[in-house]
Order: sequence, then structure tokens, then C-alpha cells
Amino acid sequence: MTTEKLQTPISFGLIGFGAWGKHHADAIAKTDGAKLVAICARSEASRAAARETYPDATIYEDYRELLKNPAVQIVDCVLPSYLHHEVSSATLRAGKHLLLEKPMGVSLAECDDLIAIARAENRILAIGHELRLSSMWGQVKTLIEDGYLGEPKYALVELSRNPYRQGADGWRYDISRVGNWVLEEPIHFFDLARWYLEQSGDPISVYAAANSRQPDHPELQDNFSAIMHFEKGAYAVVSQTLSAFEHHQTVKVTGTKGALWASWSGAMDRTRHPTYSLRGFNGENVESFPIDKPTGELFELEDQIAMLVNVLSSGTSLSCTAEDGRWSVLMCLAAQKSIDDQRIVRFDELTS
Ligand SMILES: NC(=O)c1ccc[n+]([C@@H]2O[C@H](COP(=O)([O-])OP(=O)(O)OC[C@H]3O[C@@H](n4cnc5c(N)ncnc54)[C@H](OP(=O)(O)O)[C@@H]3O)[C@@H](O)[C@H]2O)c1
Repeated sequence: MTTEKLQTPISFGLIGFGAWGKHHADAIAKTDGAKLVAICARSEASRAAARETYPDATIYEDYRELLKNPAVQIVDCVLPSYLHHEVSSATLRAGKHLLLEKPMGVSLAECDDLIAIARAENRILAIGHELRLSSMWGQVKTLIEDGYLGEPKYALVELSRNPYRQGADGWRYDISRVGNWVLEEPIHFFDLARWYLEQSGDPISVYAAANSRQPDHPELQDNFSAIMHFEKGAYAVVSQTLSAFEHHQTVKVTGTKGALWASWSGAMDRTRHPTYSLRGFNGENVESFPIDKPTGELFELEDQIAMLVNVLSSGTSLSCTAEDGRWSVLMCLAAQKSIDDQRIVRFDELTS
């Protein structure tokens, strides 16, 4: 898709000023070539906080009013997941470009609809899978592409952490509003696994298991694991526990020739002081790879805004397209179906 190239600074309007939305605001404000011109927040308390921190931005209570602001060129949507489709479709129809937080939708129909609207309106639709921009998780991809492993055959993407935040009004613990918990954090790991094993074709099926510490809430899955098979024989394991402590993520990818092992640890997910390392085995030697800049979701969030400034001003490519976002939702919905039905689920069951 080609759109007209915009002059910098690119004017962002932010919808959602909650726990993660505040970090988006900070990232936009810090990024060269980006300007935060408008913020929409629901409660008076959130609006007051937005007004105080960003006195130059126009603050709105109703997102529809923000969408009428001609200065806003791209909307950054950081709302509870059940609101993504309503607000994103209105945003694209209002002629704005869009950065939509993951999950792209809580159903495939929502994703398909957004892709169709973005095409019809010729607007950029980017999905917030920011881990792809990481100096470490991204370097794993680069090494795979450069042939370091030979042909990739296996990927493990694993996280152990403390429980999820509640979200405003507790939406994250309400399945009718969050969709399911695979769409919360494992969605990032499905995205990485599919990205890393791209040479093995499309994912074809998944088998998943999960359980909960809360007997009254089996749907709130503290432990989740899935095995996903790809067309040309590779497979990925995606695994997460929310019953642990701190935040520790590991990626292991092995191929016909070598192996890569990346790990990231922090006292919490949003630390600016994590520890991390990337090591590899090239078939002969074990080596450590330098990481050229800090990695962690707060850093990647800034990289994501910078990436969008480049896309809009210079016509460069998105790091994660709407089609990638749709794939991520599909993998999560199929994994949840596998848990519910206790069987292997093929992705084409959900698409045909
Ligand atoms: N990519 C990532 O790594 C990542 C990380 C975290 C979250 N996320 C995603 O980001 C999204 C937001 O998560 P969060 O943790 O920031 O949730 P949150 O803390 O609950 O924040 C959501 C915000 O949306 C506001 N809101 C709700 N309805 C609204 C409406 N109709 N109009 C305007 N604002 C409204 C709430 O306003 P009030 O505060 O005024 O009630 C709240 O501030 C979710 O989709 C989540 O999956 C992504």
C-alpha cells in the first residue's frame, strides 16, 4: 500500500491513557519526528493526569471528538481489547492512520473487517507487536535469516512472570472483555514463533493445555503451553506461567546447523534496568553476541513510534502488518479452542 508521504513532525492522537497508554504517550513525546497533539481518556482523573503531563495536547472525553481533530494524522489506540474494533474502525473511516495495540481484535471477523477498511481508506494499519523491534529478539530473527542455524526446526518462546494487572474496571479479568488470556501475553510469543520459523511456511495446527490456580475461574489461565506445527516440519513451543515472580523470558531456536539462546530478566516487565544475553552455537563454537542497545518493552515502544514516523514520512515498511496481527489472533483463538476441546486444532478450521 502506498500513502502520501507526510512531513515531520507526525501528529499523534492517543486514545486510552491507562497503564500502557501512559507509556505510549511518553514514547511519542520522546521520539524525534513525533508530536502528541491529542489524548482521549474516559475518567476525569485520567483526563486530569493527561492535562497535567501534556499541557500542549488537546484532551478529549469522547474518542469521536478526537477523530474530528484535523491535526491528528495517526491514532494510537491503547484501549481494553473489547473496544479495539469499534474505535479502530471509526479511526480508519475518519481518514486517520492507526497504531492498534495487540490483540488486533478479539475475533477473526474483527480483524478481517479492519483490514478491509484500512485497504478501502488507504490508511496504514500497524499492530503493536513491539518485540519484533527489540535489539535482541530482532537479532535472533536476523541471525536466522542470515543462515546461522541452517534450516530452523524448533523454537521455544517461554515466559515466567507475576500475575497480570487488573486493568481499569478489572477488564483484563473479565473474559467477556479481554477475549481470552492467550490474547493477552502469549500472543506476543506466537507472533515471535511464527516470525522465527517463517522459512517453514505457515503454521498449520496447535495443541494447547492450560490451568488456573483459581477453582472458580478456570478461564483465567495462570499456566499455558502450546505446540504449534508448521507446513514444512518445524514446530514451536509457546509457554507461559503467571504463577511465578518477576519477569523472565527465554527464546531458544535450533536448526539443522546451529542454535540460538536469548534470555531477558527484569524485576518487572516495565523495567529500564533489565539483564539480557544472546548466545549461539554455530556448529563448532559457542559464542556471545553483543546487544547494541537496551532491550525491553519500554525501549521497543519508543522504537515502534520511531518506526511509524519513518513509515509515514519516508515510506519504509511496517515491522508488523495487519496480516501479521490477524495471524496472531488466529493462533491464539485456535489455542484457546484446543484447550476447550482438548484436541489438536488446525488453523483452517477457524478460517474456512
Ligand atoms: N504491546 C504490549 O506489550 C502491551 C502491554 C500492555 C497492554 N497492552 C494492550 O494495551 C491495551 C490497554 O492495556 P492497559 O494495560 O493500558 O489497560 P488499562 O490500564 O486498563 O487502560 C485502559 C484505558 O482505557 C481507558 N478507557 C476505557 N474505555 C474508554 C473509552 N471508551 N474511551 C477512552 N478511554 C477509555 C481507561 O480509562 P480510565 O482510566 O479513565 O478508566 C483506561 O485508562 C490492551 O489492549 C492491552 O492488551 C499491550
